[in-house]
Amino acid sequence: MKRVVLAYSGGLDTSVAVAWLCEQYDAEVVTLTVDLGGGSLREGIERRAMSAGASRCYVVDAREHFVTDFVWPHLQANALYQGVYPLATALARPLIAQLLVEVARKERADAVAHDCAGKGNDQVRFDVATHALDPGLEVIAPMRAGTGLSREQSIDYAIARGIEVPVTKSEPYSIDVNLWGRSIEAGSLEDPWAGPPADVYEWTEDPSAAPAPVEITIEFEGGIPVGVDGERLAPVALVERLHTLGSAHGVGRIDHVEDRLVGIKSREIYEAPAATVLHRAHRALEGLTLSKDTLRFNRSVADEIAQLTYDGLWFSALHRDLRGYVASSQRVVSGEVRMRLDHGSAFVIGRRSPLSLYEKSLATYDEGDAFDHRSAVGFIEIFGLPLRTEAARHGAVGRRYGAAWTWTEPLLAGLPARISDPEAVEAAR
Ligand code: ARG
Repeated sequence: MKRVVLAYSGGLDTSVAVAWLCEQYDAEVVTLTVDLGGGSLREGIERRAMSAGASRCYVVDAREHFVTDFVWPHLQANALYQGVYPLATALARPLIAQLLVEVARKERADAVAHDCAGKGNDQVRFDVATHALDPGLEVIAPMRAGTGLSREQSIDYAIARGIEVPVTKSEPYSIDVNLWGRSIEAGSLEDPWAGPPADVYEWTEDPSAAPAPVEITIEFEGGIPVGVDGERLAPVALVERLHTLGSAHGVGRIDHVEDRLVGIKSREIYEAPAATVLHRAHRALEGLTLSKDTLRFNRSVADEIAQLTYDGLWFSALHRDLRGYVASSQRVVSGEVRMRLDHGSAFVIGRRSPLSLYEKSLATYDEGDAFDHRSAVGFIEIFGLPLRTEAARHGAVGRRYGAAWTWTEPLLAGLPARISDPEAVEAAR
């Protein structure tokens, strides 16, 4: 082994991993740190990596690429794992893996390394993505391989080797952060019945302490957000703006028992203010601009893309092809959505689009109604035809063959009811 490229966060564990890799493999360690926003880039990262023995450090600002190539396509797809998790951590992994592979090639490295544990999703995502991009690279995971060190031992190990130990308090949780969300697990959260302690939340205001509600307007073009309150914003700035607004109003706290890829259920807390606001707004605009068939189909595409991403199959053909569909379907999702941020909730309160399929003259119950009420009769006649046929045939057949046709069990006799005629009404007066 000559050279290893390690995904480096700058925390205690990855710092120890640098030294451990040098010692175990007698390898040169090159670190790669990817800035994905939200506070994911720590101060003095190069200095710390070098102190741990790294021979070279790459620090890459991938924030914009992360938003435009990872976050936006998933927003367009409405991809939420199990309907709730905006996938912040999962989205970051294939991007980091891609950069690991590129740096490994540039550095002529034999292996890449990450410091994921052996029972999480992230190890799978890194390994699978790396091998999809370069099957020839070895993937080493010191934590999974078992450095065999407790937290205290890690600190001693680091001090003994002159590694700069980050001056963080001993974290009671396992946290991953980028501009799309903050993922928190472990510690007291492992009891799914126990409410999350207040210190779990670092981004969002306690909803009950939030200031008076505000209304905001978000503008979309082709399913991509481009402005807030009439101001056009670049991708990262837009996420940051909604992060600030959402956090201040306590929006985006998610408490979820999640099904991990490795087969276990796990209690997760997320803070995702911008993602929460944007997903809701985007769906509202789709509701206005897409047909009911497209909306229905999109729901299954959303689930599929969320699952593929969660499972680390970013670089699969199915994911690429579904993305193609999503991009195409989004061409008409342009317009504005009004939202109210109110003590932890983000409500949609209005939407408009030049490509709206909403037709006031068809929907109205007031004057100017253009809907032909008489043709409803003919429509219902044909629409109900298969059901009438089935009820006529199978209702009878079901009885003959003894299969209970439960909908036709008498209901009236079993329910408290009042039956009145004029005399009874008069008598009751
Ligand atoms: N459960 C989430 C996922 O698999 C978040 C994992 C976060 N990682 C962490 N070290 N806290 O995508």
